[in-house]
Amino acid sequence: MNKQIAIVTGANKGFGKEFAKLLAAKPEISEIWAIARDHKKLEQTVQELGEKIRTFSMDLTDRENIKHIATELEKRGATVKYLVNNAGFAKFCSYGDISMEESLNMIDLNISAVVALGLVCIPYMGKGCHIINISSQASFFPLPYQNIYSSTKTFIRNYTRALNVELKEAGISATAVCPGWMKTDLFDRAVIGAKKGTRNFYGMVLPDAVARKALSDAEKGKDISVYGLYVKATHVLSKIIPQRWVMKIWLKQQGIQR
Ligand SMILES: NC(=O)c1ccc[n+]([C@@H]2O[C@H](COP(=O)([O-])OP(=O)(O)OC[C@H]3O[C@@H](n4cnc5c(N)ncnc54)[C@H](OP(=O)(O)O)[C@@H]3O)[C@@H](O)[C@H]2O)c1
Repeated sequence: MNKQIAIVTGANKGFGKEFAKLLAAKPEISEIWAIARDHKKLEQTVQELGEKIRTFSMDLTDRENIKHIATELEKRGATVKYLVNNAGFAKFCSYGDISMEESLNMIDLNISAVVALGLVCIPYMGKGCHIINISSQASFFPLPYQNIYSSTKTFIRNYTRALNVELKEAGISATAVCPGWMKTDLFDRAVIGAKKGTRNFYGMVLPDAVARKALSDAEKGKDISVYGLYVKATHVLSKIIPQRWVMKIWLKQQGIQR
C-alpha cells in the first residue's frame, strides 16, 4: 500500500499548526507536508511536532510553488489522506486602504491556491480521503470593511460544498470549516489601523477545539463544520434575516458610522 500523507498549508502557527498536531498523532499518517513561508517557524514546528513533519518553505500565491508540490507527489506516489487548505489572510479595512496588489494577493492565497492545491492532490486521493478547506463565519454574509476577505471565504464555502457532491462517487469528502474568531496571529496582519475596520471580535475561542471538531466532521463526511453556539446561531440567523439587515447589524456591532 502507498504511504499515507497529510498536506497542511499554513502549518507553522495558529489554526494550521493545530491540524498538523492532530494529524501527526495518527499512526496511519507517515508524513505531514507542512507548507508556509517562514522557514524558521517551520523548523520550530518540526522541533515541536516531531520527525513526521516535512517542511516546504514557500509562498502559495506563486503558481510555480504549487507545481513543485505536484512534482513531489508524482515522485513519491503517496496517497494524500488529508489535505488541509488553511493558509489565508485578512485585511480589516476599506477597499481603498490597501493596494490593488494586496487585494489581489488575498484572492490568490485564499481562493486560487486552495483550488490549485486541491486539483493537484485529488489524483492522489481515493476512498476515505479528506479535503478540509478553511472558510470562516465571515462567509455567511457580505461584510463591509472586510469585503474581499469575507467574499473569498464565501467562495471557499460554496466551492467546497459543491466539490463534496462531485467527489462522493470517489469516496472523498470535502469539508468547509467556518470558524468564528480564534486567538491566532491573523489579527497582526489584518488590523492595520484603518479608520473604518473590524475592531470587535465577539466569541473569540482557542483554535485547538475548532480543529478537533473540524477533523471529526470531515471524517464523518460532513460538507460544513461549524464550532460553538455563537457561530451556529450566526449561521442560522444568516439564513433567515435579509442580508441588508445583517450588514446593518454588523456595522453597528463594529461601531462603524456610514
Ligand atoms: N483567526 C481567526 O479568527 C479566523 C477565523 C476564521 C477563519 N480563519 C482562517 O483560518 C486560517 C488560518 O489562519 P490563522 O487564524 O491561523 O492565522 P495565522 O496565525 O496568521 O496563520 C496563517 C498561516 O498562513 C500562512 N501563510 C500566510 N500567507 C502565506 C502564503 N502567501 N503562502 C503560504 N503560507 C502563507 C502563515 O505562515 P507564513 O506567514 O510563514 O507564510 C501561517 O502559517 C485562514 O484561512 C483564516 O482565514 C481564521
